Amino acid sequence: MKKIGIIGGCGHVGIPLGLALASRDFDVTLLDINASAVDQINRCVLPFKEAGAVKILKSHIGKNLAATTNVQMVKDQEAVVFVTGTPVDEHLNPKINDVIKVIKTYLEMMNKEQLIILRSTIFPGTTELIIWLLQDRFGAAKLAFCPERIVQGRGIEEIFNLPQIIAASSEKAYREAYDIFSKISPKIIRLAAREAELVKLITNTWRYLEFAAANQFYMMVENEGLDFYTVYNAIKADYPRADHFPKAGLAAGPCLFKDTMQLSAFYRNNFFLGQSAMLVNEGLPNFLVGQLEKKMGSLEHKKIAVLGMTFKANNDDIRESLSFKIKKLLEFKMAVVLITDPYLNTSLSLAKELSKNNMTHLEVGGNRIIPISVKPRLF
Ligand SMILES: NC(=O)c1ccc[n+]([C@@H]2O[C@H](COP(=O)([O-])OP(=O)(O)OC[C@H]3O[C@@H](n4cnc5c(N)ncnc54)[C@H](O)[C@@H]3O)[C@@H](O)[C@H]2O)c1
Repeated sequence: MKKIGIIGGCGHVGIPLGLALASRDFDVTLLDINASAVDQINRCVLPFKEAGAVKILKSHIGKNLAATTNVQMVKDQEAVVFVTGTPVDEHLNPKINDVIKVIKTYLEMMNKEQLIILRSTIFPGTTELIIWLLQDRFGAAKLAFCPERIVQGRGIEEIFNLPQIIAASSEKAYREAYDIFSKISPKIIRLAAREAELVKLITNTWRYLEFAAANQFYMMVENEGLDFYTVYNAIKADYPRADHFPKAGLAAGPCLFKDTMQLSAFYRNNFFLGQSAMLVNEGLPNFLVGQLEKKMGSLEHKKIAVLGMTFKANNDDIRESLSFKIKKLLEFKMAVVLITDPYLNTSLSLAKELSKNNMTHLEVGGNRIIPISVKPRLF
């Protein structure tokens, strides 16, 4: 059995990977600085919603799966996977130093026999930089870049069905990475490092562009006073070439925007299509508030409820959610904003409002709206 340590193992990518590997009899340790997530995993509780994960967690925790904050565990592993976050900075450039810093921290405890796997989404060229770092420390590098392409919330289901891209620093590194991923993936695609890095970024950017196209058409049609979905449904009806035309909606979350910006930085800010997609997707909340003003007149002192605060439907992740941008725009118009989401558990403004009126919930269109409490981190 191969011992695999996952650094950033209690995050959205680390958990599905750890569970998938544990289900294939690897001996998996999830290492994370988030002590509360580590504690939850060891108590068989998922820190976030992930379809199909609880069942695997229950079968493997305490057997061939454990979570820890103890960095020393890295010493005992045969393979070490890095899945920590890779954000962009306030100028929308990738924070490459953050990735290097994390690797350097653990390098102190690692040895040259261990296979190092990068799974985070990284700026093109980062793999080469880390190979150089490993060569500098160990005289040789045993590294594989194996990007994750799961959709958040359905990672378990997807991980067993998606092809796995692998780029490696040597034949030996490729063979070892292949031996691991061929146990959970139906197909392995081998690429050079730069190609693999671009595959991941372009995959996410493509999705972001698709959403931007839908959102641009939505705003264009609605701005004419017409119903977008009358037009959209007519386009799609029995017309196979429009099968992949997505619906309009807030395109947010921790990956698509920042990966499009990484690609833009990679193309030295000449990626006009990507930048335009950002303007369209980030502009949708402004458009929606504008439409509301057209219908309601001034929003001053109007009570407005935002239903749904997570970044997408049926998910409990509020990272980079554009619902908070809508809330901020409405508040700037001096509206009284109430927020709620069935996937989170209580909002300050709605809770205050309800308690003033001795109420526990609101009824809107026959639905119960219960207050939630979230910390809007971004806006
Ligand atoms: N969320 C997704 O669905 C998804 C899909 C594909 C790829 N990715 C990429 O995967 C990477 C991770 O994303 P995520 O959504 O899992 O992020 P996340 O924030 O959910 O998870 C990262 C984890 O790393 C931990 N961490 C941070 N610094 C650490 C350190 N020094 N040592 C140990 N643990 C540390 C954090 O506590 C956190 O639990 C990013 O590059 C992202 O772009 C994400």
